[in-house]
Amino acid sequence: MSLDFSKMDVSSRPKLFDFHGVAMIPIFTANWENVQNFQARPDDILIATYPKAGTTWVSQILDLLYFGKTSPERLTSLPIYERVPFLEMTIPNLVSGKDQADKLPTTPRLIKSHFPVQFVPKSFWEQNCRMIYVARNAKDNMVSYYHFDCMNNVQPAAGDWNSFFQRFMEGDMVFGSWYDHVTNWWKKTQTHSNIHYMFYEDMIEDTGREIEKLCSFIGLSPSAEEKEMIRTGVQFDNMKKNKMANYSTLPVMDFKVSPFMRKGKVGDWKNYFTVAQNEEFDADYKRKMKDPALHFRCEL
Ligand code: A3P
Repeated sequence: MSLDFSKMDVSSRPKLFDFHGVAMIPIFTANWENVQNFQARPDDILIATYPKAGTTWVSQILDLLYFGKTSPERLTSLPIYERVPFLEMTIPNLVSGKDQADKLPTTPRLIKSHFPVQFVPKSFWEQNCRMIYVARNAKDNMVSYYHFDCMNNVQPAAGDWNSFFQRFMEGDMVFGSWYDHVTNWWKKTQTHSNIHYMFYEDMIEDTGREIEKLCSFIGLSPSAEEKEMIRTGVQFDNMKKNKMANYSTLPVMDFKVSPFMRKGKVGDWKNYFTVAQNEEFDADYKRKMKDPALHFRCEL
């Protein structure tokens, strides 16, 4: 299996449209019925995030944890988007994340999705699959998303920073509102112990500790040596150099505009938000995130 994105028409950027109350673009809704009917298996693992929250980082960690020892060749020969299919990604005659997931030869299957929680196919719930959700502070998430929309030709045009800033607050982004996404996944953890909710900032603070927590959640006990190898292997600089993890094999992304592995830092928003924007953002954030149940690490 090898995906040839070079045949893709990227002559114009897609436009957002409302899809069941969430802003989406056609490549993530085109196969809706089939994706909704995806047959999850009990040992499937769903990696769910709002875009740019650290999906690739956690995907690489999980792939190493499960297959680093048994099939290390897949980590050096297959790009991350083939090892961990993007369930809802559908480009007719070219890519179907759902078909890729169906055909994955590995057990467990690691599957990526940016769906808001209400879009997750029901079989994942019926099979009580483990789900790993990664959230990232809204401000850094926004900055990362801005650069991504600048460099990724299959995403809507980013526009200028000021308009992007407003659109992010309005939830006018692919996969909708950051606020709704992190909130509704968080609420789901209150009734579903099969969801492990993690934070990008915690991974930056202590990657080893977060790998440890992941291992407890998925029930793996790698040796101290293996854990150390994984922790080192997924450090930002190593992943940035790793062609099988850094998306440099995907021609729809223009690395001259921005690399996919851009900075990998907490607090980069300070280089982009003006003082006035920061005040506006904080006031809006407090209004949207006032539920006391939401006092989690995404706080500003
Ligand atoms: P920046 O644009 O802020 O650098 P996703 O995989 O969900 O698209 O998220 C991409 C973001 O995660 C990018 O953020 C990227 O640099 C960062 N990232 C990826 N791997 C990382 C790592 N090993 N350590 C820290 N950040 C990482």
